[in-house]
Amino acid sequence: MYDNVEYVECCEVYPPAEDTFLLIDNMEIDKSDRVLEIGTGTGLVSICASFKCLEVTGVDINPHAVKCALNNVKLNKRGNVNVFESDLFENVDGIYDLILFNTPYLPVLEDEHVDDDYSKAWDGGENGREVIDRFLEEVPQYLRDGGKLQLVQSSLSDNDKTLQILEKMGLTASITAVEHVFFEDITLITAYR
Ligand SMILES: C[S@@+](CC[C@H](N)C(=O)[O-])C[C@H]1O[C@@H](n2cnc3c(N)ncnc32)[C@H](O)[C@@H]1O
Repeated sequence: MYDNVEYVECCEVYPPAEDTFLLIDNMEIDKSDRVLEIGTGTGLVSICASFKCLEVTGVDINPHAVKCALNNVKLNKRGNVNVFESDLFENVDGIYDLILFNTPYLPVLEDEHVDDDYSKAWDGGENGREVIDRFLEEVPQYLRDGGKLQLVQSSLSDNDKTLQILEKMGLTASITAVEHVFFEDITLITAYR
């Protein structure tokens, strides 16, 4: 249970952790927002968001996560959450007021890389930025003028680079929340269009 939301954890799916809660506790949502969550995992972020906005679309590349999130949506009787499989925006249509992504941000060396569904939750490639950089390249066409994006990453995956890319796109971006965990700072970056 988190934020009055019940959830079940599932095999092969990232269990909610500090980074999940950092995002939930600092989401900037308006009642009329259409929200897109990339990488929904158990669906907890999408479900929490759904109580505060019009509707939520949650997607994940991991089919186990999609199944898990759909079960949790049902458990909480959320009629305004839609979940389906997608590699980033591949199967996503439309334009959103708020886009959320707790990214796979850990640097993982080539010889430590494991090609399975579960590892996609944290494996950010050699520099921790493989998925983050793809996301940043594609996100502008799904974000409405006046919209926001909030992404979670870590001090291990170059926060400054993300801020620079967002500024170059014409967004106003900053780190809006930080949590120190073991050997890294987990950061929430918020950008306004
Ligand atoms: C750190 S986990 C976060 C899960 C959940 N949102 C949470 O906060 O607990 C990252 C999630 O992103 C998903 N993911 C990784 N690469 C992706 C991609 N290219 N497209 C969509 N989802 C992706 C993973 O499967 C995983 O569920």
